[in-house]
Amino acid sequence: MSKDTVLKLLQANVGHFISGEGISGELGITRAAVWKAVSALRRDGYAIEARKSQGYRLMDAPDRLSETEIRAKLGEIKLVGRKLCCFERIDSTNAYLKRAASEGVVDGTVAVADEQTGGRGRRGRSFLSPAGKGVYLSALLRPPVEPNHLLPITGFCGVAMCNAVERVAGVRPQIKWANDLVLGGKKLAGILTELSMEGESGALQYVIIGIGVNVAHTPEDFPAELGDIATSLAIETGQSISRAALAAAMIEELDALYMALLRHRMQPYLDAYRRDCLTIGREVQLLWEDVHEKVLATGVDDELGLEVMRQNGTKEVIRTGEVSVRGLYGYVE
Ligand code: BTN
Repeated sequence: MSKDTVLKLLQANVGHFISGEGISGELGITRAAVWKAVSALRRDGYAIEARKSQGYRLMDAPDRLSETEIRAKLGEIKLVGRKLCCFERIDSTNAYLKRAASEGVVDGTVAVADEQTGGRGRRGRSFLSPAGKGVYLSALLRPPVEPNHLLPITGFCGVAMCNAVERVAGVRPQIKWANDLVLGGKKLAGILTELSMEGESGALQYVIIGIGVNVAHTPEDFPAELGDIATSLAIETGQSISRAALAAAMIEELDALYMALLRHRMQPYLDAYRRDCLTIGREVQLLWEDVHEKVLATGVDDELGLEVMRQNGTKEVIRTGEVSVRGLYGYVE
């Protein structure tokens, strides 16, 4: 426990020395306990310089997704992230929040994991979630709205995540309809939204939005079948990005999105989606069960349905499912 409180104090004074006596006085612990905490933090990978007459100063921190690291980088938030549950390893942060929801966890609770052993993707697929490489983050929201009003929320969350990545990594991904984040023609992040409704009334109980961002993966971290499809911030930018800083930015952006949703101020997200969506204006292939049909994507409507024009000139709006975009994810045909 004193490890966390000592870390917080060192983080609050980052770059400056703080004496052992000062730490022990401020935290009400012995000098021996301070020394023990500093040793434990060093074992966890923190670089802490010690000088005889000056005390301790934090020089560098490991890229950990702990609550202390994320909170140290988190700005002001209203609802999302008030409760933050961080795990070194868990089956799935979405599955965790589903379990927590049944125990009445508060609106805005966020779960973050360093590794997922059963990361879930859309359409029953799995989501590769190796340790130390990505940010796997879910938020549980209980907005007082009808479930059908939440249809575009996953796409708007895509915009929020583009904002977060741009702020931290300096590059803005694009969105492949409906909600994959794409960088350099490959998938950088995916979003899985799960709703729970009351059986009888059909009222919304909660929505869980889960986002997985590939951050530190090297090409070798992806299995062969994902080689043409997936990428990471490290691969695309050549930089090492702080996962804790990204997680904090993701929480802030989710909080801003939730506030906009509660205040019915979604227009900026709709405008941004139309700008960010790389599917618009391109030839796409619709994947209907066994049938593949080539159409032109012409726009998205206010609910983020994909407006397409068939080869015979008829128009249609696609609300669910997936499309292949020519030139992306290895689709060149
Ligand atoms: C997809 O692209 O198919 C969606 C991937 C969503 C992955 C995230 S990682 C955090 C959260 N927990 C999960 O099990 N899945 C989502």
